Amino acid sequence: MLFRPAAEADLDRLLGCVVDESISWAHPDRLLSFLESRNYRYDRIWLAEENGEILARAVWWGFAGEERPLALDCVYVHPSVEDRVGLAGELLRHAHAAFGRTPEYHVFVSNGWREDPKASAAIAWRWEAAGRAGLTEELERLRYAWTPGSPVPEPSDRLVFRGDDDDEVFVDAFRQVAEGTLDFHTRQALMTMDPVEQAREDVRDNRSMRGDRSWWRLAYDKSGDLVGVALPSANDAGPVVGYLGVVPAHRGRGYVDELLGEITRFHAERGVPGIMADTDAGNVPMARAFERAGYENVSVRLVLSADPGAA
Ligand SMILES: CC(C)(COP(=O)(O)OP(=O)(O)OC[C@H]1O[C@@H](n2cnc3c(N)ncnc32)[C@H](O)[C@@H]1OP(=O)(O)O)[C@@H](O)C(=O)NCCC(=O)NCCS
Repeated sequence: MLFRPAAEADLDRLLGCVVDESISWAHPDRLLSFLESRNYRYDRIWLAEENGEILARAVWWGFAGEERPLALDCVYVHPSVEDRVGLAGELLRHAHAAFGRTPEYHVFVSNGWREDPKASAAIAWRWEAAGRAGLTEELERLRYAWTPGSPVPEPSDRLVFRGDDDDEVFVDAFRQVAEGTLDFHTRQALMTMDPVEQAREDVRDNRSMRGDRSWWRLAYDKSGDLVGVALPSANDAGPVVGYLGVVPAHRGRGYVDELLGEITRFHAERGVPGIMADTDAGNVPMARAFERAGYENVSVRLVLSADPGAA
C-alpha cells in the first residue's frame, strides 16, 4: 500500500471516490469548488493507493493562502477494503506526520443522528479510525440558524452597548468572560495557556473573521459595570453570531438574552438573509438562549480533536 498526498493528475480518480453514507463528505462539486477557492489543495488530500487504485482518501480544509490545514473534512474508504478502520487510521497517521500536526476532524450530521442507524454507523467506524490517529477528544456542536421570519428582539433596557477601538479592552473583557466557561475549546486552551494570552489569541481569531471590527460591542449595566461582550461577525458563508459572553459576577440574570438580542437586531437591521451560530451541546445556557431567541437547531457538527495533554 502506498500512502501519499494527491497530485493534479489524480483529479479524475479523486472525483470518482463516492461516499454513499448518511454523513457530510467531499462530493465532486465540493471538491472542485474548494480546489478552485484553494480551501482544498492537492497536498492536503491524502491517498492510500494499491495497483493504481485509490483505496482510501482523506481531505483536509484550510483557509485559502494559509499553509496549515485546519480540519479534516472527509474520510472515504473503498467498499472492497475489509479493514476500513485500520486503513483509514493508517492514512491519517501518515498525513499527520507530514503535516507535523493533528488537525481536528469535523463532520456534519442531521439532528437525531444517534437514533438513525445509518448515520451512527457512518460515524462509528470513522471515529474509531480517527481515534487510532490520535483524535480522541469528542465534541458535539449544535448549529443554529435565524431567519428573517423570526422575531427581532427589542433593545435592552438594562444594558448599554459601546464599541471600543482598543483591542486590549476586549482582551480584558474576553479574559473575564472565559472564566468558568462551558465552551470546550476555551477550557482546553486554558489548560495550557495563560488567561491573558488565551484572550489575546481569541481576539486575534475574531479579528481574522469577515465581520467588521467596528461591530464589536461591550455591554455595561446602568451603574457602569462591565456585563459582557457581543461580537456580531461573518464568515465565508454569511453573517454569524460571532462571540458573546457574560462576566462571572453577572451570570444567571438572563443577560445572555440581551447580548444575543443585540447581535440579532444588529444583523436584522442590515437586512441580512439569515444568521448562523454554533455552540457546544454542553453549553446548555447558551443553547437555551438560542432557542428562546427563535434560532432553529438545523444540524450537528461532530468535532474530534487530539488531547492537548497527550504527547
Ligand atoms: C453562556 C453564557 C453567556 C450564559 O450567560 P447568562 O446570562 O449567565 O445565562 P442565563 O442567565 O440564562 O443562565 C441560565 C443558568 O445557567 C447558569 N450558568 C450560566 N453560565 C454558566 C456557566 N458558565 N457555568 C455554569 N452555569 C452557568 C446560570 O447560573 C443560570 O442558572 P440558574 O438557572 O440556576 O439560575 C455565560 O455562561 C458565558 O458567558 N459563558 C462563557 C462564554 C460562552 O460560553 N459564550 C458562548 C460561546 S458560543
